Amino acid sequence: MKGIILAGGAGTRLYPATLACSKQMLPIYDKPMIYYPLSVLMLAGIRDILIISTPRDITGFEELFKDGHQLGLNLQYVVQQKPRGLADAFILGKEFIGNDNVCLILGDNIFYGHDLTKMVQASAQLKTGAELYGFMVPNPKSFGVAVLDPNDPNKLIAIEEKPEVPKSNLAVTGLYFYDNDVVKIAENVKPSARGEIEITSINNEYIRRGKAKINNLGRGFAWLDTGTHKNMLDASHFIEMVQTRTGCYVACLEEIAYRKGYINGTQLLEAAEKQKSTDYGKYLRRIYEENKNLDFGKQGTTRSRNA
Ligand code: DAU
Repeated sequence: MKGIILAGGAGTRLYPATLACSKQMLPIYDKPMIYYPLSVLMLAGIRDILIISTPRDITGFEELFKDGHQLGLNLQYVVQQKPRGLADAFILGKEFIGNDNVCLILGDNIFYGHDLTKMVQASAQLKTGAELYGFMVPNPKSFGVAVLDPNDPNKLIAIEEKPEVPKSNLAVTGLYFYDNDVVKIAENVKPSARGEIEITSINNEYIRRGKAKINNLGRGFAWLDTGTHKNMLDASHFIEMVQTRTGCYVACLEEIAYRKGYINGTQLLEAAEKQKSTDYGKYLRRIYEENKNLDFGKQGTTRSRNA
């Protein structure tokens, strides 16, 4: 399975913070926002990843991650000239996707939870159809909202994009797994009233075909909103609190790469050295010291932990 991170958009709701800088490059506590969605793809075991961003911002992401080899990834980049809508990811990514299945994650979506790794690893094995992730929210009007069968609350009937009168509180998050049909479906999506080719239209097509499933991220999960300045501050506080209290970092990309055997101990140490004046760098060194006798990379294991 391939992965796409959609990290464009105008970011107007975060002005002036985003007047000259990509939203997905702003920090959530100690690392750029895009680290969080990238970590989800890595935890799912996805290593071929396309990052899509604006003409202005794409070079920043290329500078940040290069070709991805330092994380054991194969990263590619594509420009989206205008924010045409989320479904555009599959049109811009058509060549990259080829004949594979694909996972799309929005560059501003942050997930945290104990069994997340297991769930996304399973979704990455998807053979046919679509797998979505839902999360109960108090403000469903701001999202794509699931309409569920009254007789079977696990069955999706439809998804409504930012409805005036939501039929449930289950928001559809920005993490989507699809079979290869998604490319053709995306090419046939017509722009909505707000002029965008909506991901919700794609999801409704899978529902119409009887091939969509929604995983409910229930108790024990957090899906963090980054839509406003206050949301971003709250998300930063949450990450700081989790990292301090548990002693484990969230979205520490080098740690995930090391535990999955994508990079070896030497590469982990190099990353630690480069960032040694920060707590992040010190954490990487600690991970090395604690695990050097196991050296996941050298053994080529695929051991994982929810990092
Ligand atoms: O976050 C989950 C929600 O994301 C879903 O519940 C909705 O169904 C889905 O439509 C989407 O809603 P948003 O209103 O949050 O989407 P937004 O336009 O803010 O775009 C999400 C991210 O994708 C944002 O970081 C900007 C980026 N983006 C957006 C568009 C429209 C692009 O990179 N290119 C685009 O063309």
